[in-house]
Amino acid sequence: MAEIGKDILKAKELLVRGELVGIPTETVYGLAGNALDINSVAKIFQVKDRPQFDPLIVHVSDFSSVNLFVSEIPDQAKRLAKAFWPGPMTLLLKRKQTIPDLVTSGLDTVGIRCPNHPLTIQLLQSLPFPLAAPSANPFGYISPTKASHVNDQLGSKINYILDGGESTVGIESTIIGFEADQPTIYRLGGLSLEDIKSVVGSIHVQLHSVSNPRAPGQLASHYAPTKKLILGNIPELLSIYGSSHVGLLSFQNIDESVDPTKQRVLTSSGDLLEAAQNLFASLRELDQLNIKIILAEQVPEIGLGRAINDRLRRASFRIAD
Ligand code: TXA
Ligand code: MG
Repeated sequence: MAEIGKDILKAKELLVRGELVGIPTETVYGLAGNALDINSVAKIFQVKDRPQFDPLIVHVSDFSSVNLFVSEIPDQAKRLAKAFWPGPMTLLLKRKQTIPDLVTSGLDTVGIRCPNHPLTIQLLQSLPFPLAAPSANPFGYISPTKASHVNDQLGSKINYILDGGESTVGIESTIIGFEADQPTIYRLGGLSLEDIKSVVGSIHVQLHSVSNPRAPGQLASHYAPTKKLILGNIPELLSIYGSSHVGLLSFQNIDESVDPTKQRVLTSSGDLLEAAQNLFASLRELDQLNIKIILAEQVPEIGLGRAINDRLRRASFRIAD
């Protein structure tokens, strides 16, 4: 198992030596390595069991470092960065050759983000290179929002996890790319569509592309628990599947007919920020219970609710049972 602690210097030393470290961010925990060192980057793909066609996000401490790695920053990207960095937003920008091909899977853009977590900002400021970091989960599984989640799944493959507490946003960053100056959202995430529109006006949303996805986070089946998850109206689902072998993931209310230890409520007050924070931990807990299926319901399709519903839909889509 990995050591879990708050020692930034130790994290720095491991990263400088080319090793990987679990790092906290406000969205989810990342599996970080030196983005400019192909051996470190190759380790990330190995440890995650991730296909090399799936590019990595590069994390920097502030906007001024972005110029070292990208050749062009559209005006709308500058506006977004000014408004929302550090924060849960990744911008796809034309890359310079300073970023290795392996990081971008050969694409001509690189995903860049300034994460908003005090420990990770300090760590990035102390390093002479940026950090490539995908979510710290095995490919296709639920993203981690606590250091213990990272340890449970990747603890045997890495030495250290920097413990920054629970991720406050709880859902991965919103990914935005640009055609000329026109922004397009490729992954819904921790920054809401409404907030983005308030800065750039109109924006395209392009989430699904089944073959050769520009962002495999868009793959229909992703962010999935091991147990089968069925999405719908909970009372109707209970009348079909019965209440004895199921776990429930509901937005606000407990269902009287099911054992309360087999239920997770995302937010009793109906707060979508709280629902996003609780989503992945609740899914993991349900996945570990002695149940056969998880029955879940969607949340209101506004604000962060869009990204929550997106993750629930992908969690429910499985190619094989
Ligand atoms: O919140 C987050 O974004 C977290 C934290 C750790 O920063 N990271 C994260 O990374 O979710 P990952 O690798 O699990 O998801 C990143 C997504 C992938 O679906 C990848 O395909 C897409 O970003 N991506 C990265 N670079 C890209 C690029 N140049 N063009 C298109 N998609 C890209
Ligand atoms: Mg991921």
